[in-house]
Amino acid sequence: MPKLTVVTREGDEREIDGEAGLSVMEVIRDAGIDELLALCGGCCSCATCQVFVDPEFADRLPPLSEDENDLLDTSDHRTAYSRLSCQIPFDDTLDGLRVTITPED
Ligand code: FES
Repeated sequence: MPKLTVVTREGDEREIDGEAGLSVMEVIRDAGIDELLALCGGCCSCATCQVFVDPEFADRLPPLSEDENDLLDTSDHRTAYSRLSCQIPFDDTLDGLRVTITPED
């Protein structure tokens, strides 16, 4: 199983076995990390699932859609490494991915 490392807002780091086929948001949620609100359930309409992605992996992620880009623009915390975790399908190619949950907007 591919592994995902999640850094929480408090700076705690957790390594999770991620089920391939889920989104990164779903992997985080299923691990019981509840600070990632993901209010819209993964429909790309809330931006509460924002994470900072390890720059090392940025090139391996699917490109930003227009909707994701627009939603990220509504966040005060957006950086060049911001992504909506519900828009990143998790699979073996992302084994070892490290994401940091962004501060709450
Ligand atoms: Fe709402 Fe990702 S869960 S945009």
